[in-house]
Parts: sequence; C-alpha cells; structure tokens
Amino acid sequence: MQLVLSLGMVPLANAFLSSPDELEERFPLELVFCPECSLVQITETVSPGVLFSQYNYFSSVSKTMLAHAQDLVGKLIEGQHLNKESHVIELGSNDGYLLRHFQQAGIPNVLGIDPAQNVAEVARASGIPTLCEFFGEALTEKIEPADVVIALNVLGHVPDLTGFVRGICKILKPDGVAIIEVPYARDMVDLCELDTIYHEHHSYFSLTSLVNLFRWNKLQVQRVERIDIHGGSLRLWVGHPRENYSRPTLKILKREMVLGIDRIEYYRHFASRVQELGYSLKHLLRGFKAQGKQIIAYGAAAKGTMLLNYLGVGTETIDYVVDATPSKIGKYVPGVRVPIVSPDQIGNPDFILLTAWNFSDEIIQKHPGFKGRWIIPIPRPRFG
Ligand code: TYD
Repeated sequence: MQLVLSLGMVPLANAFLSSPDELEERFPLELVFCPECSLVQITETVSPGVLFSQYNYFSSVSKTMLAHAQDLVGKLIEGQHLNKESHVIELGSNDGYLLRHFQQAGIPNVLGIDPAQNVAEVARASGIPTLCEFFGEALTEKIEPADVVIALNVLGHVPDLTGFVRGICKILKPDGVAIIEVPYARDMVDLCELDTIYHEHHSYFSLTSLVNLFRWNKLQVQRVERIDIHGGSLRLWVGHPRENYSRPTLKILKREMVLGIDRIEYYRHFASRVQELGYSLKHLLRGFKAQGKQIIAYGAAAKGTMLLNYLGVGTETIDYVVDATPSKIGKYVPGVRVPIVSPDQIGNPDFILLTAWNFSDEIIQKHPGFKGRWIIPIPRPRFG
C-alpha cells in the first residue's frame, strides 16, 4: 500500500453531536493506493454497525436525487424490457426513494436492503418491502434471484468488497443486470474533492479497479458511462460474463491507462493540491470575517463535516450550518461544533459557504431572495 494523503485524526462525518459539549471519537484518516488492484482505500475500518445502523442520510431530501432515481428507473424499465413479473432489488435502498418508482410503474415485486433501521422503517411505512440487513454473500440464501440489482453510491461504503460482489453474482438471474454507481476517483482527484474522503467511504474507484474487482468475482462490466451525480460518478452495467468489453468501457479504460491511474504517480500531486485549496479557502473566509461579514454554511453533509474540520473552521468564522434534514436540525457538526439549523432560519448573511456543493444548482434556486454571495469551495473557491 502506498500513501496518497493523510488527513490526521478526524471525527466520523455523520456523527452529529446533540450538544456542543459532547465529546466525539476521532479516528485516523489515511488514503492509500494498492498497486496490485489499482484501488484507493482508507486504512481505518470503523465498524459498519457504528456507521450505518442509524443513518442521518435521507435520499428524498434532495430533488436532484429523486430526479436521478426516476430517470434511471425509466431507462431500466425500457432498456431491460421489465414487466409486472420482473424482480428488482436495491442494495442500500435508503428511504425507498428509488424503488417506489418501479411500484408506480406497475412493477410490484421489489425488495430494498438497507442496514439502517431508521431509514428502513421510513421505506416500509411507504410500502417498500425492506430487509434491514447488511448485504453480502451470507444473505443471498434468503433472496429470490433478480432481473435487476441496483446499488447507487453503495460499493464504496462496503468493507468486504469481495463478499458484496459475490453476493450480487449469486442473486443476479443469468441475463440479469446490476446497475452500480460509484463516485469516480478521477473526478475526486481532478476536482480536488478532499471532503468526499471519510470513514464511511472505504474505497475510491477507477474503472480499472472496478473491472478487476468484478472479473475476479465472476462478473463483467458490460457498459459504463460517466455521470454528474455526487461530484462525478461512474454508472456501470454489470452482468454474468458474455461478450467483449463495450467500446465506451474500452475508451475509458484506455484513457485511464494513458493517465497512469494504475500507478501511484497519478495521485502524487493530489495531497499538495488539497493543501492549496484548504489554504486559499481558509484565507478567503478569515478575510471576510476580519471585515465583519457574516458567514454561514449550507449543507450539514458528511462533506461539510470534513471540509470544516480540514479547514479547522468553527463558530468563530461560520455562525451556523443550514440543512433540511429533520434528524440533523438542532445538532452540531462534529469536531468544529457548528450548530445546524433549518432552511427557514437562513437569515441574511453576507456569505454562504456551499458545503453541499454537489447540489449547488438546486440549493441556489431554492433561495432566490438571498442577497449575499454563495461561495463554492470545490474545485477551487469561487463565487456562485
Ligand atoms: P450529500 O451531499 O448528499 O451527502 P454526504 O452527506 O454524503 O456528503 O448531503 C447533502 C446535504 O445537504 C444533506 O444533509 C441534505 C442537505 N440538503 C439540504 O439541506 N437542502 C437541499 O436542498 C439539498 C439538495 C440538500
């Protein structure tokens, strides 16, 4: 393993505090590269039970996510010729924001699997059958084979990648397809997305590493496309091995080879670019504060926790963070202890740091009356 970046001892990104005096646990956060399989991972494994049994992330809060889900479901129903007999499974099904679109389209046989009790309950209450478990090979006995398996932004969260992928192989019908979306490591590096690195995210994928992972577990990446979601992701169509790799797959693989994504050199300058970004953003915020300006942040995203902790910026600079998630409102960002308030308490600050920068269009549109300036931190600080 070769070191890419060290972010020191940091709190868990979604472990919001109930009071500013509460003490949070800290864990080392180091990103490393494996020259054998080209995968980038963190070194510390925090127990999945601690990270995911109760989850503060509700996909339905974001219209962008809902539209993304609806669009994908439409494409799958048409492209895979799904009908009322089809069986669809979603891994990491959250509050049912995606599977409900299948039901509405007359495909009732859906199953969500999600380990977080609180979100699984919301899904069940809205009529989505949900198994509240961690998915892996061991769980497959209980599950009927599926025509479509979907796992959006889930694979990176899984400590046992082999068990997870073998599990998919077992529950996928012979001509079934698994749709896997993962944040793309190339976008993380290019766009300097340092705040996407945290303990929930074990793995950071290039297509090269994904092709290896699936091939080693008897599956094949059959199609791939780059999509914008979560700061830049890959969407893969994965199935039982059959034909040669498709043209777009080969094109991206070739590009990665040219870029040298299978070597540590590709990641060499990432650490210094992250440092530069942190320095310029902190300088900007401190400068405005020195002029007596009021600054707040928008989005108590896990990314927000990471960015504020990386900058070492707390209430001396940022008065509060706005977020629409009911379970986050009234809590405090771990590490920096900035309070979280609901969007109707946004007030009239001079600047809003968009910590949920991946939803900047949606959030900016929601606040047409805001007279100050938005600061978008990534890939370099700029005004929105
Ligand atoms: P997100 O970027 O989805 O994820 P992560 O936690 O993995 O970094 O988090 C976005 C946060 O922003 C989430 O807490 C919900 C919040 N949000 C709002 O408060 N209002 C909005 O309009 C949107 C789109 C998101």
